[in-house]
Amino acid sequence: MPVLGRDAFSRPLPTLDPAHRAAFQAGRSLFQQVWTVGPSEVRPDLDGLGPLFNRQSCVACHAKNGRGEPPEGESDSMRSTLVRLSVPGDGAGDKAGWAPRPHPVYGDQFNPDGIPGVPGEGRATLVWSERIERLADGTPIALRRPELRLSNLGYGPLGPEVMTSVRVAPPLVGLGLLEAVAEADLLALADPDDRDGDGVRGRVNLVWDAARGAFAVGRFGLKANQPSLLQQNAGAFDGDLGLTSTLFPHHGCTAVQTACRAAAGDDASDAKPELSDEQLDLVTLYTRALAVPARRNADDPLVRVGEGLFAAIGCAACHTRTLRTGPSPALPELAGRTIHPYTDLLLHDMGEGLADGRPDFQATGRQWRTPPLWGLGLTAAVTDRPTYLHDGRARTLLEAILWHGGEAEPAREAVRRMPSLNRKALLSFLESL
Ligand code: HEC
Ligand code: HEC
Repeated sequence: MPVLGRDAFSRPLPTLDPAHRAAFQAGRSLFQQVWTVGPSEVRPDLDGLGPLFNRQSCVACHAKNGRGEPPEGESDSMRSTLVRLSVPGDGAGDKAGWAPRPHPVYGDQFNPDGIPGVPGEGRATLVWSERIERLADGTPIALRRPELRLSNLGYGPLGPEVMTSVRVAPPLVGLGLLEAVAEADLLALADPDDRDGDGVRGRVNLVWDAARGAFAVGRFGLKANQPSLLQQNAGAFDGDLGLTSTLFPHHGCTAVQTACRAAAGDDASDAKPELSDEQLDLVTLYTRALAVPARRNADDPLVRVGEGLFAAIGCAACHTRTLRTGPSPALPELAGRTIHPYTDLLLHDMGEGLADGRPDFQATGRQWRTPPLWGLGLTAAVTDRPTYLHDGRARTLLEAILWHGGEAEPAREAVRRMPSLNRKALLSFLESL
């Protein structure tokens, strides 16, 4: 039975074996866990929040494994949105070459909150401005764009050099399948010099894989800035919740954040990671095994017309319909499958309108990873106020399309100019995913 309601993104892969199914449930409870400030006498395995953090649980941002929402205005706060920070220049030395260079005072992510005794970094919110874009037939569509507002700064001004990137939590279904696609297949899809002359390039991000001690193709995060779910999740525990792991054994306090450093206790000789390897593995299995919901109405005539248009006008040049998974030692149930994620996992120049101006490894300030579109049509079932794109600026799928620029400008123009019935067909196709 397909699940269409609030839990549409919360099911395990139906093919999980019983041992993995049990691990999935254990992983889910850690994903939902509200972590506490240590030391806890009762559950020392579930403490370690902070010293600086964004939220107390994974699920606080990834409710029902669906997408988060941006603040609606100045008085609203960032409940499921975060701000990455850096300053110009390369990150730490040869190992992490190309890594964004963390802000010297605030680090690489804005953490609004601190545990008792540690000042938080301040308040982050968005204010919106609207403009009207017209379809070729004159229909007005209001497009809103956010402006980041940081206030009550805990450690002084950020300075003129700071680069910021506002990102809303993306949905989490099907990620294990995307992880199991062979690197060689992604490299084969890339066309950085546009040799086929279709105007669509697509390049892989090369990012530092801390577990392997080598560069690897990035796939997770909105700029493909993480090579694996293990590292993505360890990074989230570290950056979003303030929990250390074997992979990231030090808290992110900067030199000037003295209260943070004192509370962190990283230097203690008996310091062991706040998150055990076993806990990280369970959460990672959970994020690998969230199933992609089945399509609906795939045979509806209007949907089929829309599917044809999607390919014909060039949407599928980036939103690749079909990929194949290779071997999957981490979770054999994922191996050797044909999947329809509608992404190439590559970076594309999306134009000035969507640019954040903040490079992330090899991604430029104008590039974003093509997001998978599977499950897209169930967004409204899972999330109260569905929004799209990296910062949640689009309130409808049509708005999301109209923001496409750069390499995707011809495809966007085709949508702007098409007869309204065709547009309706294209949107019905997207809703069927
Ligand atoms: C403050 C909100 C917030 C919290 C808390 C949070 N996330 Fe995220 N999550 C995000 C955002 C934003 C992104 C995109 C990050 C980027 O592009 O750099 C993301 C990305 C991800 C991704 C990759 C998705 C993809 O499509 O590539 C995974 C997996 C993930 N988070 C898991 C977790 C886990 C596990 C936790 C708890 C340890 C967690 N998140 C906590 C906001 C959050
Ligand atoms: C050049 C590559 C490219 C082409 C062509 C392209 N897209 Fe995209 N698409 C992207 C990228 C990259 C994003 C993410 C942009 C962002 O978040 O700022 C995106 C985002 C989206 C989203 C929002 C998804 C989400 O999870 O928020 C939708 C819907 C979408 N595209 C549909 C389409 C349709 C329909 C077409 C054809 C008219 C199309 N795209 C053409 C690369 C492309």
